[in-house]
Amino acid sequence: MKIALAADHGAYELKESIKKHLEQQGIDFEDFGCMSKESVDYPRFAYAAAKAVADKFCDLGVICCTTGLGVSMAANKVKGIRAAVCTNEMLAEMTRRHNDANVICMGQNVVNAELANKLVDIFVSTPFEGGRHQRRVDLLSDIEEGKNIAP
Ligand code: RB5
Repeated sequence: MKIALAADHGAYELKESIKKHLEQQGIDFEDFGCMSKESVDYPRFAYAAAKAVADKFCDLGVICCTTGLGVSMAANKVKGIRAAVCTNEMLAEMTRRHNDANVICMGQNVVNAELANKLVDIFVSTPFEGGRHQRRVDLLSDIEEGKNIAP
């Protein structure tokens, strides 16, 4: 299991704290930046980590910004990425079980370090349920391919 980790300046501290947590858990990760609190553009960092997941260099992504919103929008533009903003334990669990999310997005102004670590633990340890959910996840891929999936 290898995690692609990234954040903008608005979540630099949260990323560093998640990094320590991953180290303590013995989970391998690649840090795609940013590397300080200096202002940067979140799409670049979200893209770098999301692309690593899409290219299968990493298994899952953890990407943060001030709100979690901007990085989720950026990550979801990368083909093959299903990024979900999570603010509580239920969302982190359900987006793995039902959506096979491969990137969790969190906001430093939304979740504290303790909750973020908890959400990461749930996200990396919860399996996708498959079954009827696989059909729906496949439909998400169809949208990426430009297919008309309207009912
Ligand atoms: C940066 O100021 C902020 O816009 C960014 O961290 C993020 O929350 C965007 O959605």
